[in-house]
Amino acid sequence: MTATTQPSAGASAAAPPALSVRDLRKTYDNGVEALKGISLDVQPGDFHALLGPNGAGKSTLIGIVSSLVNKTSGDVRVFGVDLHARRDEAMRLIGLVPQELNFNMFEKPLDILVNYAGFYGIARDEALARAEEELRRAQLWDKAQLTARTLSGGMKRRLMIARAMMTRPRLLILDEPTAGVDIEIRRDMWKTLREINAAGTTIILTTHYLEEAESLCRNLAIIDHGTIVAQGPMRALLARLDVEGFLFDVDGDLPGVLPQIEGATLVALDRHTLDLDMPRAMDLNRVFAVLGEAGIRVRSMRTKSNRLEELFVRMTGNGNAAPQQGEAA
Ligand SMILES: Nc1ncnc2c1ncn2[C@@H]1O[C@H](COP(=O)(O)OP(=O)(O)OP(=O)(O)O)[C@@H](O)[C@H]1O
Ligand SMILES: [Mg+2]
Repeated sequence: MTATTQPSAGASAAAPPALSVRDLRKTYDNGVEALKGISLDVQPGDFHALLGPNGAGKSTLIGIVSSLVNKTSGDVRVFGVDLHARRDEAMRLIGLVPQELNFNMFEKPLDILVNYAGFYGIARDEALARAEEELRRAQLWDKAQLTARTLSGGMKRRLMIARAMMTRPRLLILDEPTAGVDIEIRRDMWKTLREINAAGTTIILTTHYLEEAESLCRNLAIIDHGTIVAQGPMRALLARLDVEGFLFDVDGDLPGVLPQIEGATLVALDRHTLDLDMPRAMDLNRVFAVLGEAGIRVRSMRTKSNRLEELFVRMTGNGNAAPQQGEAA
């Protein structure tokens, strides 16, 4: 029992996690057990994905961390600050981008940002300076004085992020920020988020788009039915897939008989395309060597399936999957 917070010798050197969640449980009034004891650490500077099917508990987790939902039990700390005991202090460290657009469409972007800062007690001069900085970063400075309603869908999304950044949060949390927006807008937002992360802000992102997590995030946790079924570095999780599939586009026509690659399956899809399934552990150079010897020149290659998608299906599809936590902690 640690009733008082005493710095322990070992822990004092390392910075506390940006987010530390311990055995977090939430049972809603209607009896739904949305979180069944979740533990999760997100390190400072990380870009962390939270993945899971509908109803997995992602929004509940984000709701608790951002103080919109009351937990049933468990512990949440933001940069070492106990959310329960020091709520206001913890909340000042967090910026939240909710899924729904929730600014006043009849206000101007500049006013939306400055007024928001006002709620947090930021002086007007400072708020104006920050608003200009954030609107420029969001490529909205030239729209600062237009009615927000007239912004495009992508601009509105960027405005949501710019607003959350007004308080200079050390942890930015986004709940499905790209749900229902087209690929161009999504890519646009990815760029903005990468810049924010590169400038030092820790980001936690919930998404249904697995390619989004794969493209943006270094670490991820997969939630299913209120439990974390997998978590760790993106690379380590992907490495757990034992089979990889590739498509090769080749120069010229393929030979009538394809070379054998021990342990792998090589099939011609058409005269110029090869389909390869190989064990993860296999060296791709060996594949190229065999193909080269057979006079097959690979012009380009791509992964056959979305590997994260495959991982996701495996983790959540198997109800008996043992939690694989702290894989490479
Ligand atoms: N206010 C509420 N009252 C009762 N049950 C709720 C409430 N909010 C969520 N739930 C239930 O808790 C479970 C987890 O929901 P949650 O919204 O956290 O999932 P999610 O992972 O965010 O799903 P989605 O991907 O669809 O947004 C679901 O079964 C949901 O029906
Ligand atoms: Mg949700």
